Amino acid sequence: MQKAIAPGKLILSGEHAVVYGQPCLAIAVNRYASAWAKPHPPFQIGFELLNLDYHKQMTFSALKKLKGRLHESYEEFLAGRQSIRDVLKLPYQLSTYAVSHLLEKLNHSLDKGVHLSTHSDIPLGCGMGSSASMILAVMHALALQQGLTLSSEDYFEHAQETEHLQHGRSSGIDLRVSLHGGGLYYHQGKMEKRPLPDFPLWIINTGTPLSSTGECVATLAPTLENPTLLADFQAITLAFDQALQQQNLAEIQRCAKENQYLLAHVGVVPLAVQELIQTLGQHGIVGKVCGAGAVRGEQAGVILLWTESLPSHLPPILARQIQSIKGDELGLRSA
Ligand code: MEV
Repeated sequence: MQKAIAPGKLILSGEHAVVYGQPCLAIAVNRYASAWAKPHPPFQIGFELLNLDYHKQMTFSALKKLKGRLHESYEEFLAGRQSIRDVLKLPYQLSTYAVSHLLEKLNHSLDKGVHLSTHSDIPLGCGMGSSASMILAVMHALALQQGLTLSSEDYFEHAQETEHLQHGRSSGIDLRVSLHGGGLYYHQGKMEKRPLPDFPLWIINTGTPLSSTGECVATLAPTLENPTLLADFQAITLAFDQALQQQNLAEIQRCAKENQYLLAHVGVVPLAVQELIQTLGQHGIVGKVCGAGAVRGEQAGVILLWTESLPSHLPPILARQIQSIKGDELGLRSA
């Protein structure tokens, strides 16, 4: 049995703008997608995707056909004939596509079959990179069990081609952070390592947004073609980067607040979440939505909180929602 784990991520600054070539800062965190691969009869594949309650045995040729159909659907999206929501209609399709895509790219015929099980403690669709982490964990477990050797660039390339089906137009930041771990400054495909914040970190999960990342990215496209707005995002991320390197919490809080303001301005922070962030502010806690946010509904995934310590006088209804979270230095690995 081979096991691989891939951490989730939180974006500190620059989500959405990163899709348009602006810098972005993110950290890997201690929530993981895990995948186990064990032997199976030749040319057979078994899936047991525990979070999704999906159990299926299929032949390698059936898997290839399924992948072909998903790819055709993605081409329909690229041609502007359907929305990204109609490409991967069911959550299990991401993992089945990831397996099939990797095997096809490596021209590997699955003469040794594989049984894959997965589990994730990264909340699905909440801005913590659940899709990227699951794609990487599945690909790594499969590669280990099949004896396939891949460089990190190979993983990135094959995983990004898979992630595009979920996000439509992915910047690659989620995959980069989950692959390499730690803190990352990412700009136009180039990465630089950054320290993890020296402060305790907390999150509140406001719930799974009604809109997917792909939908948010597509909806924001006309807004983010505005160079002044992109320059504002860039300036905040550059200042945040300095503050992170100096471990200057007051300046980090200032930047997180500005970034949150910009995200609300472009329309990915529902009113209920803006109000929650305002309430947190009254207790001296700066909160910022992390990841895609939401363009529909009341929930926007995870809010990252910046405060030296949690005040003792927080109303219990607020205190109960706060979870502690830590950085992960290692990224994708066998376990
Ligand atoms: C998603 O975690 C971050 C976005 O900027 C999309 C992307 O970068 O691909 C919203």
